[in-house]
Amino acid sequence: MTTVGVIGGGQLARMMIPAAISLGIDLKVLAEAEGMAAGLAASAVGDYRNRDVVLAFAETVDVITFDHEHVPQEVLKALVDRGIPVHPGPDALLFAQDKLLMRKRLSELGLPVPEWAAVENVEQLADFLSQQGGRAVVKTARGGYDGKGVRVVTHEHDVDDWFTALAEDANGGALLVEELVDFTRELAQVVARNPSGEIVAWPVVETVQRDGVCAEVIAPAPRSAGKLADVAGDIATRVAEGLGVTGVLAVELFETTDERLLINELAMRPHNSGHWSIDGSTTSQFEQHLRAVLDLPLGATAMRDPWSVMVNIFGGPSEGALIDRFPAALEAHRSAKVHNYGKDSRPGRKMGHVTVGSDDLDDAAYEARATAAFFQD
Ligand SMILES: Nc1ncnc2c1ncn2[C@@H]1O[C@H](COP(=O)(O)OP(=O)(O)O)[C@@H](O)[C@H]1O
Ligand SMILES: [Mg+2]
Repeated sequence: MTTVGVIGGGQLARMMIPAAISLGIDLKVLAEAEGMAAGLAASAVGDYRNRDVVLAFAETVDVITFDHEHVPQEVLKALVDRGIPVHPGPDALLFAQDKLLMRKRLSELGLPVPEWAAVENVEQLADFLSQQGGRAVVKTARGGYDGKGVRVVTHEHDVDDWFTALAEDANGGALLVEELVDFTRELAQVVARNPSGEIVAWPVVETVQRDGVCAEVIAPAPRSAGKLADVAGDIATRVAEGLGVTGVLAVELFETTDERLLINELAMRPHNSGHWSIDGSTTSQFEQHLRAVLDLPLGATAMRDPWSVMVNIFGGPSEGALIDRFPAALEAHRSAKVHNYGKDSRPGRKMGHVTVGSDDLDDAAYEARATAAFFQD
């Protein structure tokens, strides 16, 4: 039996488990701690930044993949040096780890990105702000997620804390600053590519962010038939090929008020914008990721229903809301697919999600929102 090793024990690794079972693949997870969302498949607990921990885990599997992009390059290179297949490989993953390198590489590939610059100090930020009419978005190159590490700035001193942290960092570095994009909505194009070079794409979706965090996804994105879908698919295909991505790739996009698509950021793993595919597509992004990292033929990405709406469930002040309210939610919303990540509740934490498929977008959205609302304090 082939064994896929997943580094990281969060909900993305968790949702690979049912797909692995169906495919008859053994899945082992290197979890950060006991009791993680993917604890069911955790064969080891340890620090993914520790070379020896990761190498020991890798000895027990046939291929390594990830639940997140934070495994350091040195550790990834050590795996490759040992001859262990790693998907996505370090040379691709680098561009999901570092937003500055990502902007630079995508610009070189001629792909559409917001105007951007690397800034090392207040003066450089002031220059960029003056070119941009006094408003911009500053991002830390590494370590950000769910809007942490992203700040809208109107003054060159708005990120002094980040400049100070950079100055204290032995590795130095710079911040990414980019134009504050005037967008009508955010989209995501999820694709998968296997090492043989086969690529498949799901329909482009609309993602709704609240407080910098994905709250809802509508598949396909309304009014995306035709040109928009083609352009999004083409952009993601060029990213996957240009960077040599293997596995699932999510390309977050801005649709601008002047009807361009610009790339926001990349994730090289299953992504929140693809969760709908578990219930809404012939092949889920989790199954597809496993097929891709094993270089198996990729599955069809057709939708099961004309519309599929996914709404995230966030932790609130009360512990156990998800579990306590589960029976009532299931009773009231029998067409909703409720996914519980089995995590301890913390305010704002992604605890689960709901997907509803329908012939009618309004019905799907209503049902999915109403079901998720059951769990919100
Ligand atoms: N250049 C930008 N212009 C306007 N909004 C932006 C820009 N960059 C990011 N945002 C907003 O902030 C959110 C989070 O930024 P992102 O770079 O995707 O960070 P994260 O890694 O936290 O997801 C985006 O989904 C978008 O809503
Ligand atoms: Mg993002």
